[in-house]
Amino acid sequence: MEITLKFYRFSPGNGSKGDFQEYPVEIDESATVLDALMQVKEDQDSTIAFRGSCRTGFCGDCTMRISRRNRMACSTTVGAAQNEGTITVEPVRLITTTKDMMYDLDTWVYDKYKAVEPWIETDQKSPDKEHVVSNKVVQDLRKVMSCTMCWLCDEGCSTMVVDRKFVGPLALTKAYRSVFDPRDNRTEARLKNLSEKNGMWDCCHCYEASEHCPKGIDPTERIFALRNKAIKANAGIPTVRNHYRSFAKSVKSHGWLDEARLAIETEGLTNIKGQLKQVPLAIKAFRKGKRPLPYFLHEKREGRDRIKRIFEKWEENE
Ligand code: SF4
Ligand code: SF4
Ligand code: FES
Repeated sequence: MEITLKFYRFSPGNGSKGDFQEYPVEIDESATVLDALMQVKEDQDSTIAFRGSCRTGFCGDCTMRISRRNRMACSTTVGAAQNEGTITVEPVRLITTTKDMMYDLDTWVYDKYKAVEPWIETDQKSPDKEHVVSNKVVQDLRKVMSCTMCWLCDEGCSTMVVDRKFVGPLALTKAYRSVFDPRDNRTEARLKNLSEKNGMWDCCHCYEASEHCPKGIDPTERIFALRNKAIKANAGIPTVRNHYRSFAKSVKSHGWLDEARLAIETEGLTNIKGQLKQVPLAIKAFRKGKRPLPYFLHEKREGRDRIKRIFEKWEENE
């Protein structure tokens, strides 16, 4: 089929702001967008710059914005990408480029990746035989290890859009691999590190990362697993742990959230400074007519027994 490939050109050195350049391409609709780009590079314009290595969806190198959607060029066919015979190819939005589709991967991918220390550390002596890891754990870790670092999850992340310093679902998925590997024994230090500023607690639960992952790794659930582990291990920021526990306790006992109790317990019952910090907000809320009553004064909702049973069932499976 005959298509027009609109390829985004950008060269910071020449002061240009960047614009689309059009290339006519004759190619089969079952070929990939990466094939079309290679064809242009070989036959028409050797100056276009883009990434791509394995051509089979394994290396995660060819992520681009193709016809307004973030995808991997080697896993997207021309037929699927074209719209009335035109395919636009431009950089993803959250990573800065150095030329055309060449990304600054150090800042936006590798530095964050390194920050989660994605390797196994153990102070155990070498065992006489091999380390035995259960099949169930290996299956789970292998799924995570199939991450190609395509950064589509980071690109789709709602938090990343407003805060690019957020460590992001890609690096957190890599962190999961180390934290949940039974051979590693730096769990507490790792969870503490992940709880620092711009860390795992900045995820806003939107599930976009899982929606965007082409490998079905479910990065959002991996982040939740890390956070649950931090809560259980008493690692990381105390107010965050208190907040989670208080939220769950009040919903379990009353069938709905006890907001006043949440505010009190998040700061910690004995944390006088923390409690005083909340007074201006409480006064403001009171003036606006918001007067939630805590603990035994908080109304119990009809149907709370059913909610309690859900909690109990979940706790049994934990
Ligand atoms: S669930 Fe969290 S990490 Fe995933 S996209 Fe949303 S904010 Fe980002
Ligand atoms: S978790 Fe999925 S979307 Fe994110 S980098 Fe890995 S493979 Fe890509
Ligand atoms: S070239 Fe390797 S994933 Fe596309």
